[in-house]
Amino acid sequence: MTVPMSVAFVLSVLLLLVSCTTSDPLLTNFLQCLPKQHQNFTYPIFETIYTHKNTSFQSVLLGYIRNSRYSTLTTPQPLAIVAAKHKSHVQATVICAKEHGLQIRIRSGGHDYEGLSYVSDVPFVILDMFNLRAIDINVVDESAWVQAGATVGELYYEIANKSKVHGFPAGACPTVGIGGHFSGGGYGPMMRKYGLTVDNIEDAQLVDVKGRILDRKSMGEDLFWAIKGGGGASFGVILSWKIKLLPVPDKVTVFNVKRTPEQDAINVIYRWQYVVPKLPEDIFIRAITRLKNNTEGKKTVEVSFFGLFLGQRDKLVSLIKESFSELGLQRQDCFEMSWVESTVFWANHPFGTPISVLRSRPQGPPNFFKSKSDYVKEPIPKEGIESIWKAMIEMDKVLMQWNPYGGRMAKIPESETPFPHRAGNLFKIQYVTYWAEESSVTSNIHLKFLEKLYEGMTPYVSKSPREAFQNYRDLDIGANLPNKTKFGTARVYGSKYFKGNFDRLVRVKTMVDPQNFFKNEQSIPPLQRETQ
Ligand SMILES: Cc1cc2nc3c(=O)[nH]c(=O)nc-3n(C[C@H](O)[C@H](O)[C@H](O)COP(=O)(O)OP(=O)(O)OC[C@H]3O[C@@H](n4cnc5c(N)ncnc54)[C@H](O)[C@@H]3O)c2cc1C
Ligand SMILES: *[C@@H]1O[C@H](CO)[C@@H](O)[C@H](O)[C@H]1NC(C)=O
Ligand SMILES: *[C@@H]1O[C@H](CO)[C@@H](O)[C@H](O)[C@H]1NC(C)=O
Ligand SMILES: *[C@@H]1O[C@H](CO)[C@@H](O)[C@H](O)[C@H]1NC(C)=O
Ligand SMILES: *[C@@H]1O[C@H](CO)[C@@H](O)[C@H](O)[C@H]1NC(C)=O
Ligand SMILES: *[C@@H]1O[C@H](CO)[C@@H](O)[C@H](O)[C@H]1NC(C)=O
Repeated sequence: MTVPMSVAFVLSVLLLLVSCTTSDPLLTNFLQCLPKQHQNFTYPIFETIYTHKNTSFQSVLLGYIRNSRYSTLTTPQPLAIVAAKHKSHVQATVICAKEHGLQIRIRSGGHDYEGLSYVSDVPFVILDMFNLRAIDINVVDESAWVQAGATVGELYYEIANKSKVHGFPAGACPTVGIGGHFSGGGYGPMMRKYGLTVDNIEDAQLVDVKGRILDRKSMGEDLFWAIKGGGGASFGVILSWKIKLLPVPDKVTVFNVKRTPEQDAINVIYRWQYVVPKLPEDIFIRAITRLKNNTEGKKTVEVSFFGLFLGQRDKLVSLIKESFSELGLQRQDCFEMSWVESTVFWANHPFGTPISVLRSRPQGPPNFFKSKSDYVKEPIPKEGIESIWKAMIEMDKVLMQWNPYGGRMAKIPESETPFPHRAGNLFKIQYVTYWAEESSVTSNIHLKFLEKLYEGMTPYVSKSPREAFQNYRDLDIGANLPNKTKFGTARVYGSKYFKGNFDRLVRVKTMVDPQNFFKNEQSIPPLQRETQ
């Protein structure tokens, strides 16, 4: 916990010294451009600009870094951060960065697994969206406008503040940002009922490469399609989304039951694969495998079954008894609560935590972590599951999360949005390994281990391509340099994230940003040309 803070302090002192003696001409030009582009005196732009000379530069930078792997002494830092407070600040930043050859990285909640929203190897500025976080709920219309810098927790809180019978299907982690989360697909425990966030979006506001503000009508259906899961950062800056509010019952039921190998966990999780993806769409049961010391102090695994049922306890218990008796779910395992309280439960807070916790922003430095994803189309045999467990037990600080598909997910055509992983998938796997201290030795041990685990999973998961979830960003599956986009490389990661939708994403990109201004290591390239 103390390491990143002292790192930050040393860095800020170093950088203060550096920036007092040298001034980067790129930065100077960019800073001189901004006020010329920006004429709205009600919202002065200088109040939003942080350079290394501002004492709060480091705290603003660190405030939305959610993976400590990308805040070390060697991590490149931006020349400046523009923490936009008004749409016109976003427009000016895009225009001036383009004019002066600076790359921009757009950051909303900063949860990108590989830090692409706040790190680049070339001179860059961060366009930070955390100040643009208004949420405007319209219960009569059953819709809401949400700015990109809001978090999903704030959205859940605001919906519940206006209605007890509406909800929205988005992620389980309340601090995730609307900007990245929605444009990367976005899923949560209501996805079997309502699909992804992007299946429930009605409109959006975006600043394009020319600095214009477009909505669904003026951007056209192709670009609107692309930003709903194709990754916003390739196409423009999303200012806000208009979402559909969806009905939820006034009481839902949750549970979290744990099974160890001694309690026949192998059979329960094996059956989970056959049963849970076919259950009624009102039920979602996530299975998380973690390491645990058993009563003899020996390392073993434990599987948690986390459930959400959009209905009442008695109905859930009888349904599970009938179709998934192996789980052994009892009435006393189940808790009825409002939908918004269930989002607090899914965020791992203890029972009784007030829902105001949904509005808290990230606090303190996060872990170091690395994550990967897979899709499973055929149940994994018991021997397979046992070999995964064996591999996990050789490691520490690792977990594996299985998220069931089916329900509404299987009914939406693959080309409806850029997110292609629909029918034919039983579930998605997320692997995570994490550690607490900055050490290249520790980090290498964990990264190597995860690579080996992923390797070992090959026989059980999707093939050609081996599919991956874009919101679980993973640079190992293919990545470009930040300043050189090779089409062939982009096709490698693009087909894993988007399958056949990659080609349409490329056509949209070619139309709206042919010079490839909006780019990162895993962005969508314009057609068949290498760009600088
Ligand atoms: C603890 C944790 C829990 C998570 N849980 C879930 C979950 O339950 N479900 C799920 O689907 N995902 C989950 N994720 C993944 C998460 O959805 C993605 O990391 C998502 O991209 C985060 O969005 P962000 O705005 O916080 O991230 P950022 O790091 O700010 O952005 C991510 C990407 O989107 C781009 N971007 C951000 N804002 C904009 C914008 N306004 N316009 C254009 N491009 C933009 C960035 O440049 C970057 O490429 C989780 C991640 C973490 C760390
Ligand atoms: C500044 O922004 C406000 C709010 O969006 C708007 O009402 C006003 O017209 C703008 N002023 C100028 C000079 O563009
Ligand atoms: C950063 O410092 C400059 C120069 O002192 C100042 O004009 C600006 O307002 C500061 N930025 C913020 C966000 O306070
Ligand atoms: C791209 O950036 C790298 C540093 O990451 C640099 O060495 C290289 O010269 C750059 N290439 C171009 C074409 O700008
Ligand atoms: C809505 O939010 C406001 C402000 O946080 C709070 O005072 C009020 O009690 C909330 N109302 C409901 C119904 O939750
Ligand atoms: C198991 O016990 C070891 C040794 O006491 C400890 O270091 C480790 O953190 C424990 N693991 C878990 C998952 O509790």
